[in-house]
Amino acid sequence: MKLLIVAGARPNFMKVAPLIHCIQRHNASLQNGQPPVEFRLVHTGQHYDAQMSDVFFRELQIPKPDVSLDVGSGSHAVQTANVMTRFEPVCEQEKPDWVVVVGDVNSTVACTLVAAKLGIKVAHIEAGLRSNDRTMPEEINRLVTDAIADLLLTPSEDGSDNLRREGIAEHKIRMVGNIMIDSLVTHRNQNQGSKLLENLGVKERGFIYVTLHRPSNVDCRDSLAVIVKELSAIADQCPVIFPIHPRTRKRMEEFGLSFGDTPGLKLLDPVGYYDSITLTEDARCLLTDSGGLQEESTYFRTPCLTLRPNTERPVTVSVGSNRLTDVERLRTDLQNVLLGPERTGQIPDGWDGRAAERILEALLAV
Ligand code: UD1
Repeated sequence: MKLLIVAGARPNFMKVAPLIHCIQRHNASLQNGQPPVEFRLVHTGQHYDAQMSDVFFRELQIPKPDVSLDVGSGSHAVQTANVMTRFEPVCEQEKPDWVVVVGDVNSTVACTLVAAKLGIKVAHIEAGLRSNDRTMPEEINRLVTDAIADLLLTPSEDGSDNLRREGIAEHKIRMVGNIMIDSLVTHRNQNQGSKLLENLGVKERGFIYVTLHRPSNVDCRDSLAVIVKELSAIADQCPVIFPIHPRTRKRMEEFGLSFGDTPGLKLLDPVGYYDSITLTEDARCLLTDSGGLQEESTYFRTPCLTLRPNTERPVTVSVGSNRLTDVERLRTDLQNVLLGPERTGQIPDGWDGRAAERILEALLAV
């Protein structure tokens, strides 16, 4: 069996790493001339900065990509089209049995379209998630990918139920658990001894970890201006650590917004994987619009406020530590979280560090 594994953007890297390591372990354990699982790693180059890509390869011990498509940034159409035109010849040359895509970014849908039209089977890891909000670019990517993929590997039962509701045949659906948690389980202690919190001048459970980059929050001046005001206000009460995503930084410059001099507010460049999981585990609470951080905070039971009207990860709300908020309620919700328990919620089923094994089993069984 030969796989082409696709990664393109920051949230993809912690999802491909466990699968690659699982395949390597599987191949090392083969006996009596059993054929190995061959794989090639394709990096589309949707994210390309050292802090958005290289640091994740290094920390997650992902091998150097076999193929780099170097597509870079662009409008949705340009970025998706560039991935497609550059990925097609790779498929034709490599002739894989499966293209494996993860998550919901533009690279995911682009490579799925190419493979499906070439008659190559597609496995989608993190299938079935739905925000039911088609203004989100990722929701379009999820719907299209799941409609044409051949094997839909869901992280939680709600994902499988969404697919059934959309008429996807049962034999294509497998609930395998959350592969991102595999990376978390493997790497959660690797920052031990780092002086991250000390260097930032904060104490364990004494700071709010903030990440915001969704177009719905940062591409609109009014909403970004309120966020800037509210973060400055809360930072007077509890220190805020805010690594700024390139999209958010760019928009702040365009809109002429800045934080001014607020000592409690620590603005950073994007942080690597180890630092991000340390901040998530040790924070008093999170404020985010990231899908991944909703899940990682759920695993650590760290209270999380998600600045979005909906989430494609409802299990983080129903069993986990997550709650939705909006800019009007932000100040009150943050105050309430700071008054509430330091840890809350439970770890959902299948978020156990073994999703990659179940994914490889599913691929080998088809
Ligand atoms: C993308 C994904 C989003 C994911 C996010 C995580 C889509 C539709 N969106 O959004 O689901 O949550 O990644 O980060 O696929 N830029 C850099 N350096 C980089 C990459 C981007 O400076 O390495 C800047 C560019 O100015 C670019 C902007 O960030 O225009 C946005 O990047 P883009 O890949 O278009 O989308 P993200 O907002 O990162």
